[in-house]
Amino acid sequence: MLYAGKLCKLIVLIVLIGSSKNLLVKVISRKPCWGILRDYTQGKLDYLKWWAIGLSEGEGSFTSSNGYPRFQIELNKRDVSVLYKVKRIFGVGKVYLNEKNSTYMYIVTNKANLLRVIELFNGRLMLSKRQNQFKTWVGLFNKCYGTNIKVNSFEGDCKEVINNTAWLGGLIDGEGHFGIRMRGKAYEHRFFLYNKGEIDLYRIIGNVICLTHGGITGNARLSISASVNKDTVAFDNLIGYLTRFPLQSTKRVAYAHWLKALRILKDERNQKTKKGVIKLLRAVKNVNQYYPK
Ligand SMILES: *[C@@H]1O[C@H](CO)[C@@H](O)[C@H](O)[C@H]1NC(C)=O
Ligand SMILES: *[C@@H]1O[C@H](CO)[C@@H](O)[C@H](O)[C@H]1NC(C)=O
Repeated sequence: MLYAGKLCKLIVLIVLIGSSKNLLVKVISRKPCWGILRDYTQGKLDYLKWWAIGLSEGEGSFTSSNGYPRFQIELNKRDVSVLYKVKRIFGVGKVYLNEKNSTYMYIVTNKANLLRVIELFNGRLMLSKRQNQFKTWVGLFNKCYGTNIKVNSFEGDCKEVINNTAWLGGLIDGEGHFGIRMRGKAYEHRFFLYNKGEIDLYRIIGNVICLTHGGITGNARLSISASVNKDTVAFDNLIGYLTRFPLQSTKRVAYAHWLKALRILKDERNQKTKKGVIKLLRAVKNVNQYYPK
């Protein structure tokens, strides 16, 4: 693996030195660099690349401007640092403020920059909606820049990538939600991931993070809910995953409060002390502050 990674870097270097247009296109369309990315647990960079892919699956968009392809991710202003992180990971692009709606936009344009984006995504997108978008978009790229890049479908083992890379963490940073509500007299912890029409993939995600708990509805809304007591294990896999692959956006703040409330609820002694109850109420309020209306 390490050797493949080095070889790949070498090829890229040779291509850069030679800067031959045709060779570059050929190397990219032959999907190199698996060596680097497949070795996902090694080193922070690979970790973050998978995270950026997961985030883009949720929040990215392969779009166009004046007929030319453009890649963008739009986030609420509180997550502007996430966009700068993405920029560092991709090594290209710019972050802009949309004055009108106070969102921030990470935008990549021009041939050389977009080639890097394409190289990272090609063969590694798992959501069928994104795969289709990407295919059409690379078609536009080829037309605009006279290239002949072939789009590869995802060929890895979905389950392995979901469980063993930060891809899912990126997706959760994009569209995961943590909440707590009252049900009768008990607090119920909830976690959701929503993505219309990706039911097969969401089943796999469901298997990885909740096994027998929770469920998936017809339009691919994965949810796990549970009233917590000391025996509740419903969230163990999700928590295990997020401990190995921590969230990078402000959602990690909501998650931290959610986890705190969960731990307080799991220890019944806390609920009998005034201090414990106050801590719990504060944590619940803090989680729900981030919960979408
Ligand atoms: C915010 O403004 C930008 C630029 O005008 C636009 O492209 C984008 O779609 C807007 N986003 C939302 C959520 O309205
Ligand atoms: C996910 O990975 C963890 C840690 O390696 C492992 O303990 C767990 O069994 C895996 N889960 C699945 C569903 O593969």
